[in-house]
Amino acid sequence: MKAGEELFQENCSGCHPPSGRGDYLKPIPATLLTRKSQHELMEWIKGSGQHREMPSFENLSDEQRASLADYLHSQIMK
Ligand code: HEC
Repeated sequence: MKAGEELFQENCSGCHPPSGRGDYLKPIPATLLTRKSQHELMEWIKGSGQHREMPSFENLSDEQRASLADYLHSQIMK
């Protein structure tokens, strides 16, 4: 779980604050990113330039994307 949290801090928290409300620069709190299934999250994070604003993270491994998805799902329990 730690790995996912670190990956999130490094790659995602600039745009997605770990908790609380988003603002203009930080549109979507991590706690709202959990509506997708594990598979959907992994596909989304991988992206491929199909998202309008969010960059794709094809540089991450499947394992890293899986720990990110686990981390996001763990946030909804809080
Ligand atoms: C440059 C800013 C930016 C970064 C960095 C970023 N995101 Fe995003 N993310 C967005 C924006 C903006 C959206 C809204 C959809 C869109 O326009 O692409 C979004 C949407 C999402 C969604 C979909 C939410 C929904 O509606 O279901 C997920 C999941 C997500 N991001 C996860 C992540 C993860 C995980 C990372 C780190 C690997 C990350 N994002 C990094 C800006 C970013």
